[in-house]
Amino acid sequence: MESPVRVYMGKATRLGASTSVQEAITRIKSLIDDGEPLFTKKELHAVREQLRKVQGKEDGQKIFVKGLDGVAVEFAIETGNTHRSPLPGYEFIVQKPCIEYVPMQDLISSLWNRNPDVAYCNLRIYHYRVLRNISTKQLCDTQAMMSKNETEIFFQTHSQVWRASEPCKQLRSTLLSKGCVTNIRKVVGFALGSIASNDRPDLFTSPSTASAFQHSLILTLRDVLCEREGERREDILCYVQDPMYTDIDKSILESSGIDILDDPEAFLQVDDAAIVVSCAPNVPVKQIVSDLARPVVMIWDRIGDREEDPPGTDPDSSRLRDLIRNHYEEIEFLGDGQNFRDLAVYIYRSDVSSTGR
Ligand SMILES: C[S@@+](CC[C@H](N)C(=O)[O-])C[C@H]1O[C@@H](n2cnc3c(N)ncnc32)[C@H](O)[C@@H]1O
Repeated sequence: MESPVRVYMGKATRLGASTSVQEAITRIKSLIDDGEPLFTKKELHAVREQLRKVQGKEDGQKIFVKGLDGVAVEFAIETGNTHRSPLPGYEFIVQKPCIEYVPMQDLISSLWNRNPDVAYCNLRIYHYRVLRNISTKQLCDTQAMMSKNETEIFFQTHSQVWRASEPCKQLRSTLLSKGCVTNIRKVVGFALGSIASNDRPDLFTSPSTASAFQHSLILTLRDVLCEREGERREDILCYVQDPMYTDIDKSILESSGIDILDDPEAFLQVDDAAIVVSCAPNVPVKQIVSDLARPVVMIWDRIGDREEDPPGTDPDSSRLRDLIRNHYEEIEFLGDGQNFRDLAVYIYRSDVSSTGR
């Protein structure tokens, strides 16, 4: 059976004068040309507060999100509703709301941006939706899991392998040699996956192996900052955000000193004095983060020279390429592609003007 979790958007109503998608696309293109940030902490904050208020509540609530033209859109909360599924004997049950982040490429594409009510919204309220058996009400949770003990050993084993590896040693010495990597007390990670979601801890390559390596990288960055600043481990804040985390992940990561935050909390934690890490996210982390701040170090999917066609889930943009060209030094990340995909290290260049920082 396919993964049962689906994300969908319920009813959305624009609360101002109606608009056409084409009008919205033209206006958003000019905001992009003018270099306007499309994601802002103010709007993320407003959405976060409303998500907190509707937490645990069922159908009947609303969340209001401002579009890029300043007009609010009302998103209906449909938690608890059921929908028919194509699978006989099963239905979808609507679960908690979540944020859908729309990258600029999708906003200005008439193929992807088709609903005039939300045409200006780069933040939209969606819901998780899970398949369940109609008669037993049992959720189709197909995700296999390791036990807490297995996950702990699995994480420790892979952390040791990572710590002893040449790419880890090289990254440490690069960061320790950079003058700008000072006064940093925060590491923020996005989309590093679930370590526990795996029923084959004996396999050396799996999504949870990648997740174990990527979280080990967070611990390495913390150690580098401790060494640099002469701080204790507990004085360096490590935050991660991924909706996939299970309770086992939470307990293992928290006991290693990594705090798990709910979306969009980790975006709100990003600032110029942070190290940001992300790896193959399903959300446009690069576009969001670069609108919010100029982090001193970003370790994330390599930024290509040209536009991808079609764009991926974390697409680059000419704005992002200009930012990197003008303000960051790119350094090779030597971790293996199996566990770290195609990461690169971007370090803020203190030799260039600090305009916009
Ligand atoms: C393709 S997987 C990559 C996972 C892991 N980094 C890897 O390399 O295997 C994409 C990840 O993005 C995560 N993701 C989706 N929405 C997110 C959000 N709003 N914030 C952070 N992570 C998110 C997914 O849960 C998933 O773990």
